[in-house]
Amino acid sequence: MSDSEIITHDIIIVGAGLAGTWAAMTAGEEKLDIAVLSKVHPLRSHSGAAQGGIAAVLNNVRPVEGTGPRGPLEPIPPGGEAVDSLDLHMFDTIKGSDWLGDQDAIEIMISEAPEIIYAYEHMGCVFSRLPDGRIAQRRFGGHSAPRANYSADYTGHVLLHTIHEQALRRGVKFYSEWYCMDLIVEENICRGIVALDILNGKLYTMRAKAVMFGTGGYGRAWKITSNALANTGDGVAISYNAGVPLMDMEFVQFHPTGLYQKGILMTEACRGEGGYLVNSTDERFMERYAPDKMELAPRDLVSRAEQMEIEEGRGIGPDSQGLYLDMRHLGEQKICERLPQVRDLAIKFAGVDMIDAPVPIQPTAHYSMGGIPADSNGQVIADADGTHILGFFAAGECACISVHGANRLGTNSLLGASVFGRRAGRAMAEFVKDGADLQPIHDDPLQRNQERIKHLMDGDPASNNHESVSRIAEELKGTMTQNCGIFRDEERLANAMRKVNELQERYKSARIMDKSGRFNTDLLEAIETDHLLTFSEVVVASGMARTESRGAHYRTDYPARDDEDWLKHTLAHKEEDKPKLSYKSVNIDWEKFPPQERKY
Ligand code: FUM
Repeated sequence: MSDSEIITHDIIIVGAGLAGTWAAMTAGEEKLDIAVLSKVHPLRSHSGAAQGGIAAVLNNVRPVEGTGPRGPLEPIPPGGEAVDSLDLHMFDTIKGSDWLGDQDAIEIMISEAPEIIYAYEHMGCVFSRLPDGRIAQRRFGGHSAPRANYSADYTGHVLLHTIHEQALRRGVKFYSEWYCMDLIVEENICRGIVALDILNGKLYTMRAKAVMFGTGGYGRAWKITSNALANTGDGVAISYNAGVPLMDMEFVQFHPTGLYQKGILMTEACRGEGGYLVNSTDERFMERYAPDKMELAPRDLVSRAEQMEIEEGRGIGPDSQGLYLDMRHLGEQKICERLPQVRDLAIKFAGVDMIDAPVPIQPTAHYSMGGIPADSNGQVIADADGTHILGFFAAGECACISVHGANRLGTNSLLGASVFGRRAGRAMAEFVKDGADLQPIHDDPLQRNQERIKHLMDGDPASNNHESVSRIAEELKGTMTQNCGIFRDEERLANAMRKVNELQERYKSARIMDKSGRFNTDLLEAIETDHLLTFSEVVVASGMARTESRGAHYRTDYPARDDEDWLKHTLAHKEEDKPKLSYKSVNIDWEKFPPQERKY
């Protein structure tokens, strides 16, 4: 390998969303040489698509006295009684996770939440405000108090812009539109990555003392998803291929309000601000599923309720797969002030103005609770004993720390990405300053990846039968939607596994048409499809093994939660090309937050 093909930094971070940028900005305070790679422009990272809020207990608002828990909100006057607490936020998160969240990590996330909101504020983040200047808060699903701090419905966007500027100010180098193809791990030590400069197709070995993945989620394996085109689970698939286990991959969240047939996020803040869900008979059906929380029950429950309505024939639209989100009663002023983005999206993509018509919606694959197992400093772990993969860190949606357990509460993702991105940044800086060095690479990862590209361009010379990558991706999305969606059972999961394995076989003879180096999106799509196939097999295998229902993993053949056998995390290692499952205990404070029945 020539020197021109090797790039070195102290720290390399893959992914420029909130987790990656917080890590870069924080480590950047220590005057280290830090690089961030992003396959899209950093400000197009998917964190920017989060809309409704970031959770933290600030006690700025409360329901107007005498109006009940769902009544209108008003500012809490100075000295007024608090309605929220860290313990309540913890309890809601643990209950939302269906007791699969690790409670030590949850405690860290929630106790650092208020301070991280003020850190954003001090960096100039444009939060929506109460009349007295304090940060505005709204309700969100599964939270017992209004604790979603927001900026209209552009929250992720403003948070990301705020910290991106700060990372630039600290001298972080951004490799924009560079694609990480491989993670170099030898003998449980991370030594760097292999990356492709998308602009010219050149491959590089990038060496670093510490590497962090903040590569986001994997909703693109489903047909209807709120996820950006980029969310193809590259980080989780690359890690798994490098020998890192994946944790709790069976838990995939469907957000109840994706725009019908498009999947685009219609923020939960629509319901937080008072929107109704209505079926084809004009019924507010949540009354039958969660009479107390109604539309603000947690996402797993609301999406299941919607799917039941659809399957029982009360859906709307040409394929009867939709329902309505009715906002009309909120009025033009509130909608335009608090929800301008979703109003605009519904007008542009569905031709509906929510001021005077209900918006057609349907559940949409939204968030991956599972991912690369890491501790609360982002240090990636290799097994159930917590052995570290030295020099490898992960945070944000690609990581499983695990604060969201079997089902994440809305607004806890921007929070988790911020808190654990910052902690990973600190931990990496400490690791490097404590004397970590560049580690030698014995293997030839560059050549391995050159061959991977050559194979995709030239195909199998012995065969005339070349498969289309996009057909494989389409068929994968079809089977994941039909067989590994909101409702699962043994037969559907077995069908999914057969199909994924068939597609993996067919992928071996996939060939791309574009042979050029410059902005070869054909090549990118092919590699991304490989990653979709890789992690989908793990999602299905983990879901087949888990013979219970918990959070977002609902087995119609095992509808009850089974704490005796299944109160444990799944770990999937790649062994002889197949996922091999093992299990890891959940960290529970048995005195304070023991498992309970989950009712809303
Ligand atoms: O509905 C939303 O605004 C999404 C927020 C989240 O996933 O946390």
